[in-house]
Amino acid sequence: MSQPNAALMDAQASLEAVIKGEVVRMYQEVADKPDTEFHFYHGREAAEMFGYDPGWLERAPSGAVASFAGVGNPHARSALQQGEVVLDLGSGAGLDGIIASWQVGSAGRVIGVDLNPAMCLKAKAHAAATGTTMECHEGPMEEIPLTDASVDVVISNGVINLSFRKRRVIEEMFRVLRPGGRYSITDIVSAKQLSQSIVNDPKLWAS
Ligand SMILES: C[S@@+](CC[C@H](N)C(=O)[O-])C[C@H]1O[C@@H](n2cnc3c(N)ncnc32)[C@H](O)[C@@H]1O
Repeated sequence: MSQPNAALMDAQASLEAVIKGEVVRMYQEVADKPDTEFHFYHGREAAEMFGYDPGWLERAPSGAVASFAGVGNPHARSALQQGEVVLDLGSGAGLDGIIASWQVGSAGRVIGVDLNPAMCLKAKAHAAATGTTMECHEGPMEEIPLTDASVDVVISNGVINLSFRKRRVIEEMFRVLRPGGRYSITDIVSAKQLSQSIVNDPKLWAS
């Protein structure tokens, strides 16, 4: 088997760092200035389009709804039960974590993980504003800051497509899931091979 080329690995590591920087910047902007025009659906319009229960959107803090940047509805298949431990991978401003916390109740636990510490602060504040609690750990989904087999259900919405190392994210997800655990993920896949000019463009990657 051929050895990975060191120069190629360096180039990939620096592209990954640039992409992560752009991802953090882009979704920080969605959270801070949700009224800005973005070239992807977000906020209430997106949540309604993906079939979120209108009652949830009324009950959740307006800031969490306005900053929603998911691509689908992971709650449609998560079948969360009271008392379960849920990980929201790439929890953003917290809308999905808050909805999950209502479903698992006070006997359960919702843990967000986000690369951006400012998003964790927002998610926790939004959860507190509805009288519920959501933990949030700053960290990369490629190295989830949780112990093995510590989670019943992983939910994630529009996040894994942003990773440079998607296989690693999936391995990490299965590491933290308990045996018999479940996942409900909504994300973007491309049926076509993307051109190198798209793959290497941090702005396009981040959106
Ligand atoms: C498209 S937003 C989705 C946020 C949230 N799931 C929602 O539906 O509103 C992507 C979120 O994932 C976080 N994120 C991006 N790359 C990450 C990574 N490598 N590890 C952890 N979080 C990441 C971003 O900081 C951002 O909050």
